[in-house]
Amino acid sequence: MSEPARSQLPAGPRMPAVLQTAIWIRKAQWLMDTCQARFGDMFTLKMANEGEWVVTSDPGVIKQAFTGDPSKLHAGEANQILLPVLGYNSVLLLDDERHLSERKLLLPPFHGARMQRYGELMGRVAAEEIERWPLGEPYPLRPRMQALTLEIILRAVFGIVEGPRMELLRERLRHFLDLSTSPLNMAILGALGSERFQRFPLFRREMDAVDAPVYEEIAQRRGAGDLAGREDIMSLLLQATHDDGAPMSDVEVRDELMTLLVAGHETTANALSWAIERLCRHPEKLARLRDEVAAGEEVYLKAVVQETLRLRPVISIVLRKLQEPMEFGGRLLPAGASIVPSIYLVQRRADIYSRPDEFIPERFIEAEGGKAPGTYTWIPFGGGVRRCLGAAFAQFEMETVLRELVLRRELAPARPGAEPVQRRSITETPRHNAAVIVARRPCAGSDAPARSRSTAAQPVNG
Ligand code: HEM
Repeated sequence: MSEPARSQLPAGPRMPAVLQTAIWIRKAQWLMDTCQARFGDMFTLKMANEGEWVVTSDPGVIKQAFTGDPSKLHAGEANQILLPVLGYNSVLLLDDERHLSERKLLLPPFHGARMQRYGELMGRVAAEEIERWPLGEPYPLRPRMQALTLEIILRAVFGIVEGPRMELLRERLRHFLDLSTSPLNMAILGALGSERFQRFPLFRREMDAVDAPVYEEIAQRRGAGDLAGREDIMSLLLQATHDDGAPMSDVEVRDELMTLLVAGHETTANALSWAIERLCRHPEKLARLRDEVAAGEEVYLKAVVQETLRLRPVISIVLRKLQEPMEFGGRLLPAGASIVPSIYLVQRRADIYSRPDEFIPERFIEAEGGKAPGTYTWIPFGGGVRRCLGAAFAQFEMETVLRELVLRRELAPARPGAEPVQRRSITETPRHNAAVIVARRPCAGSDAPARSRSTAAQPVNG
């Protein structure tokens, strides 16, 4: 048997790490395209404070990264930048046994079958939001999508809707989340590092203002007589127990709730914005979508969501940091380097997707000669034991919002041409915020849209 090559990082750009990092922050997708054209399916980027990233678009190597031993391939370590907001117990930041243990507790609320329960909530929040939009003038939808997805995740997570405590929490969270995505704060966080940043008095004050009503709600809910009958995620977590029978502590619950809020709203808002941006520029596909959802069909709707997440992934990469030297693609990579499946590059491979740069939802419809998304070639939600816990929730939410939207409103792009991709903290967004011109549909009033099966489901405690 031939020996694997010794500690061989694939080739990559020669420029200093700090320059590579600066380009990455501004233009990650451009950098990956350029490197792939020059170095092939596996190349090395050098990132300031992070070390070497071996970026890959080879489905075989991606499979190996997703199915390899998680104790040797850490993902939590790579997310430490989020520590000040998410806390030490966040599933996103943990590795090894503690990660699996937290993940197990979080899985039941996100089980596919439970999604139907969130359907009514999602449809109702979407309808209220859409009815408020101005008509006949350029209107950037991304900020509205962000407000919408925050409201949905807030209600799904906390279950409560009205009351002064919820109002306070909603207001403080909105303010805090705006602050946490501001480029200035990201830069300070990068410069100080997460441990020092979280002790920074200004940050502490803002975080404590959010935490106070969260802890109050946790205390109140623990003692609530109807806890066992509640469906919201917080109530489910308060009833969950670790393998040794111990319930989750307050701080553990707080950290996971913040994780779900942060991981769950901006990502979904951007994905929805891209779906609208793409559909507006393909009026024939928008018309087909509208006709099919009006007839109660779901196949095209699902394909539109899958194709949007393929062509415009909101997260471009995932990381696994090697805890010991490991072989990938015939090369022995050193401990400390990260293997980095590129969501963006693999989902644009011409040998897997014909006309990869075009928006073609039909490619995912088997009855039309398409193929179901592949586990290692369609990876907008990552994979393996770290695959996004909210994947079913996010897709269901996208479907529900799009359904409400196309049934209630006509949409046209507010600007000619495709919107370029722009980085916003760690997500990729449409540069002009999915600017559209909204018009009322003939005969479409607030009660007009046909209610589908999913929006007729039970409310989630509210
Ligand atoms: C379109 C929307 C979304 C996208 C594109 C997305 C994408 C991702 C990606 C790429 C990862 C990392 C996976 C990996 O390392 O293999 C992830 C992790 C995660 N996501 Fe999402 N996400 C979305 C929505 C959501 C929602 C709605 C929630 C919760 C309500 C959520 C909760 C999480 C959590 C908890 C993790 C950490 C899983 C773990 O480390 O075990 N995400 N997501």
